[in-house]
Amino acid sequence: MKPILNKLGEPRAFFGRKVAKNLGISQKALFEKLLPSLEIKIDDDGLINPSSLFLDMPKIKKIILEIGYGGGEHLARKAQENPDIAYIGCEVFSGGIGKLLDKIDRNNIKNIRLYSDDALKILNALEPNSIDEIYLLYPDPWPKTRHNKRRFVSNMTLDVMAKTLTHEGKFHFASDIEDYANWTLAHILDHSEFYWPLQKPASWHEPLEGWQPTRYEQKAKREGRIKSFYFSFEKKLILDI
Ligand SMILES: C[S@@+](CC[C@H](N)C(=O)[O-])C[C@H]1O[C@@H](n2cnc3c(N)ncnc32)[C@H](O)[C@@H]1O
Repeated sequence: MKPILNKLGEPRAFFGRKVAKNLGISQKALFEKLLPSLEIKIDDDGLINPSSLFLDMPKIKKIILEIGYGGGEHLARKAQENPDIAYIGCEVFSGGIGKLLDKIDRNNIKNIRLYSDDALKILNALEPNSIDEIYLLYPDPWPKTRHNKRRFVSNMTLDVMAKTLTHEGKFHFASDIEDYANWTLAHILDHSEFYWPLQKPASWHEPLEGWQPTRYEQKAKREGRIKSFYFSFEKKLILDI
């Protein structure tokens, strides 16, 4: 599949940062006071060593990236449960960023850094083999066939994720949309650097380890999409001979 080039020659369609209409006064204040201390900027040299973002954490067990964290329910909970794991959250919707800032502030969470632009840009900028796990939970489904190419999962994004993940890295995915689950599985099975260790259809309804439903999973259930799909893909161990 050929990458889709946008007007800037970037290799896919992306619809930019979305600004919420009604950010509350306290959230606006968090954007001004808290976000700058957590926000990741990509320098001109375009390369990020993620450990350098967490110099105040002397012993980091792992570094985990979440793409499209929405209101940050999963990210904030995981970060509180695992204070020795460093988390990077990517989200483009200011309403969601505001909700997560509020959780970080209220709970004094220290192990999260934020990137507030297209996740693909930071995936490209992160040093190779630098991230232990990536979560993509309930990505925008783009259900119409002519819009499928806007889905986050593509051959190109899987290539970039494979580059960024460590040798034993994992890519966790969840969706309530069967067509997107099949799409993702098909892309993984076709990809030279990922595999699906469980390899049995029944397992795809088993929630990820330590799972609690995200906001979008709850919405899906309310709308009657009871059974979600969950995958933890792993990087293939490629031996240099
Ligand atoms: C359907 S929502 C799911 C939110 C959350 N993961 C959940 O399960 O409740 C998808 C989110 O991904 C964000 N998003 C979409 N494309 C993105 C991208 N390329 N980079 C960062 N965030 C993105 C959207 O703004 C939206 O908040």
